[in-house]
Amino acid sequence: MRSVYMDHAATSFPKPPEVGKQMLYYVEQVGCNVNRGGYAGAYSAAELVLDTRERICSLFHFPKPQNVIFTSSVTASLNMILKGALRSGDHVLTSSMEHNAVMRPLVQLEACGVSFDRIPCGGTGELDFDAILPLLRPNTKAVVMTHASNVCGTVLPIVRVGTFCKKHGLLFIVDCAQTGGTEPIDMQEMGIDALAFTGHKGLLGPQGIGGFLVTDALAAQMIPLIAGGTGSFSHLETVPELLPDRFEAGTPNLPGIYGLNAALRYLEETGIEAIRQKETVLTARFLVRMRECSNIRVAGTGDAAKQTAVVSLDFPGRDNAEIAFELDSRYGIMTRCGLHCAPNAHKTLGTFPQGTVRFSFGYSNTMEEIDYAADCIEAILSQEV
Ligand code: ALA
Repeated sequence: MRSVYMDHAATSFPKPPEVGKQMLYYVEQVGCNVNRGGYAGAYSAAELVLDTRERICSLFHFPKPQNVIFTSSVTASLNMILKGALRSGDHVLTSSMEHNAVMRPLVQLEACGVSFDRIPCGGTGELDFDAILPLLRPNTKAVVMTHASNVCGTVLPIVRVGTFCKKHGLLFIVDCAQTGGTEPIDMQEMGIDALAFTGHKGLLGPQGIGGFLVTDALAAQMIPLIAGGTGSFSHLETVPELLPDRFEAGTPNLPGIYGLNAALRYLEETGIEAIRQKETVLTARFLVRMRECSNIRVAGTGDAAKQTAVVSLDFPGRDNAEIAFELDSRYGIMTRCGLHCAPNAHKTLGTFPQGTVRFSFGYSNTMEEIDYAADCIEAILSQEV
């Protein structure tokens, strides 16, 4: 049976071959720590870490490599930013399309005196921009939102919200888990104060490496959640002020950073625009094929130009989990079914509690695979239930 991977929103696969090669090179040939050893190998590893920060800065149009903080994931980054910056009495706005990586820290923070409101989104996941102003309170400190929904791909109006935040003196924190490496992101143009990213989705790197970019002004307000050795200021028992050390205690994930570095080089050679264009064409084709089928509801905008390469389907009268199971077991098509760690996004889209079967495409997918998936869906739907 053939094998067709359509779960790129969960994690991209396959990775560019150089990613695994660089990770192996680090483990077998380099091996040493950074910021600790005074020998050539340690210096060359440190240079590669700095080079990776610089490539991240260039990808996201941010001027300060030392303000790129490596973490284990976008989830870790969002926890560090939200729990580090928010205090009792603060109020936050978020969208109704968020992943639990934003919602669970916010709900935990409620117990510490932080409150939040959700900016409503319509049934296609599009943000109701005019609803933001009436939700503002004198103690509103920040807006935190995803750049694009992991459930249906709808892209949120980040430039517009960023401009609103600047006008009203609010911090703007953005989760780009679903757009890093596939959508253009310009932190300065978008007025973003902190951008949380993961390495293993659109950036095409390995799992276990992510991070965030943060302005000096926001970093100065953030309490570091993790304290420990940094290899710097070792005469002190307090956390250093200097970035990135302030938020990077402990030995970093160096195999992950070597892999991410190779992935970023691949992205630079290939070009985000080429990746985006291909994914848009694949998504548009799949949407056309799905519109031709009866008894399928497409969650989201249904317009490839307004979304990432993520298409969520609801099959009225059928068990979505059974469809996903059949796609995998009979046709080798890998999707993600359920609520995708975003219950309120599904409520917004009207697909709660049944969830959806999510198809998410990547640069490695082909038009033939899109048609194969559509043919298989048609075949499953044509069976008697
Ligand atoms: N958040 C990832 C997804 O949407 C894991 O599948």
